[in-house]
Amino acid sequence: MIPRPDLPLIVALDVSDVEVADELASRLALEVGMLKVGLELFWAGGPEAVQRIVSHASVFVDSKLHDIPNTVERASANIARLGVAMFNVHALGGEAMMRAALEGAKRGADSAGVPMPLVIAVTVLSSQSGEDLASPASLAFEAKTSGLDGVVVSGADVKDVRAACGDAFCLVVPGIRPKGANGHDQIRVLHPREAVELGADYLVVGRPIIDAADPVGVVRGILRDLR
Ligand code: C5P
Repeated sequence: MIPRPDLPLIVALDVSDVEVADELASRLALEVGMLKVGLELFWAGGPEAVQRIVSHASVFVDSKLHDIPNTVERASANIARLGVAMFNVHALGGEAMMRAALEGAKRGADSAGVPMPLVIAVTVLSSQSGEDLASPASLAFEAKTSGLDGVVVSGADVKDVRAACGDAFCLVVPGIRPKGANGHDQIRVLHPREAVELGADYLVVGRPIIDAADPVGVVRGILRDLR
């Protein structure tokens, strides 16, 4: 069994303004396990935005890499050099690509003298209904066989993925909604406690926190619900 994180919440900083992200990061840093920099913020602020968020807290770069192994190896090295705690690739990129991500991450972290980040795989996006796609459990198992540290998996699939991959594998679950919150475009949503009971290690929550008048209050409410 891997030790479960003390602060299992990852807040998605899905904003297009780096100053707004920086402000949110400074308010949330001590309350959360990690802050997530995804496509929206990355394409607004680039690696400098990642570095600014790294100065506040542990960062998960939701990079969702999916390309030929050589390109993914080099991109992974560049992500790891930024001193992030975790980043991801698409499991659908295949085993050779996932192994290349690990090699690149190690090379980048070593060259910058920073710790090696966790490298995890995206299985199936939680806004998709799952039809006509490879099963999340089989994709997760492939990620594990490739040496990755965990996967991003929807709430509906956590139980199957945990059963397929065992305890020593980090499961990061988006599509989480505190009771009464709007589900937005997420098809499969779970309440925080349900997700942890099903086997989630980290919960990813974006809009219900960052769009709230009191983001810290929402975070504390979620953590209270988990105790
Ligand atoms: O605002 P909300 O809580 O729906 O945000 C969920 C976050 O998790 C978004 O940043 C989205 O990109 C990310 N994500 C997801 N489903 C995945 C992988 C990542 O919703 N399978």
